[in-house]
Amino acid sequence: MAGMYSVFRPLLFRLNPETAHDIVVQTIGLMGRIHPLNQYLVDTCRGPLPSFPVEAMGLSFPNPVGLAAGLDKDAKAVDGLAALGFGFLELGTVTPLPQSGNPRPRMFRMTSAQALVNRMGFNSGGLNHFLARLGQQQQQAIIGINLGRNAATSNEDAWRDYLTGLRAVYRVADYVTINISSPNTKGLRDLQERDTLDGLIARLKAEQSQLAELHQKYTPIVVKISPDLDIESIARVAEVLTLRGIDGIVATNTTISRPLDAKTHPQASQEGGLSGAPLAALSHRIISELRQHTPSDFPVIGVGGIMDAASAQAAFSAGATLIQLYSGLIYRGPALVREILGALQAAQAAKAPTS
Ligand SMILES: Cc1cc2nc3c(=O)[nH]c(=O)nc-3n(C[C@H](O)[C@H](O)[C@H](O)COP(=O)(O)O)c2cc1C
Repeated sequence: MAGMYSVFRPLLFRLNPETAHDIVVQTIGLMGRIHPLNQYLVDTCRGPLPSFPVEAMGLSFPNPVGLAAGLDKDAKAVDGLAALGFGFLELGTVTPLPQSGNPRPRMFRMTSAQALVNRMGFNSGGLNHFLARLGQQQQQAIIGINLGRNAATSNEDAWRDYLTGLRAVYRVADYVTINISSPNTKGLRDLQERDTLDGLIARLKAEQSQLAELHQKYTPIVVKISPDLDIESIARVAEVLTLRGIDGIVATNTTISRPLDAKTHPQASQEGGLSGAPLAALSHRIISELRQHTPSDFPVIGVGGIMDAASAQAAFSAGATLIQLYSGLIYRGPALVREILGALQAAQAAKAPTS
């Protein structure tokens, strides 16, 4: 598979990033649906994949390397993505009603920096479409569903959108992510402010209790935060979330900061959220900071700038329980999953006492 991606990458990189993205998701979706191709993906990617089980949020993850939200926003390629060896898949962001997102172009590559800027703005087919797509697939993976609010919904009413989302996906999701950290929906990140956040999470936790009763199933809820929070805000967010009994934190979304040389990378001046290699240090700092304010067994899903085994190891050292990839997949291809798992296993073997 490593070899295969090095053939396709130059071709894909000649296309505009969103077209390339759409082709890849369509192709993986198609391969996942057609039996012999699905088996091919499993054999080449998953085959002798090192197993590295992790228990978190009451779920048994076959390995701690997940797909980050935003790649499969409409649940188009769940089975194909599962075959690539991920320990879990976070689908979405899905909004209650369909919306087209921002005008194109809205995704930009900075290849020499291994970075992307995007301002997609939650292009989403909406909940009904999402659930119909998901229902057509086998879903042999742990599935997180990432929820957003519609652009037309005010922050005052945002809780309604998140409750609508929670009710709709509760039964089928293994966990639910509340996305209040995308920089591309106006005002969204203000939902991270203490009182607003507390009110929102209180409503979601109350609804979760009722849904757990109704469905006889507990679906954990995690919150995805921004890397642009200052140190005091991180402490406040961690306090509110742990006091309210939230089940985990995803850290982090993309940054509006530009920790790279703007002269070398003119695309960096594009408006939107930056992801990829330049985000790693920032994201890892947020994970360490969260760890100072949460119990040691509190689940933290680390995401941001994981491009190789070393940056994955850095996220775990900072305190991540699980990790997710997005930009790393674009630059390195699906072989990255196996590379990280191989390194984790080697590190564990080196630590184990020799007899
Ligand atoms: C094109 C693109 C679209 C994204 N869409 C979403 C999204 O819909 N919801 C979300 O929570 N994060 C979204 N993200 C953020 C990623 O999930 C991840 O948090 C971020 O890219 C940092 O990880 P990375 O450096 O591995 O890419 C998106 C990222 C990219 C590059």
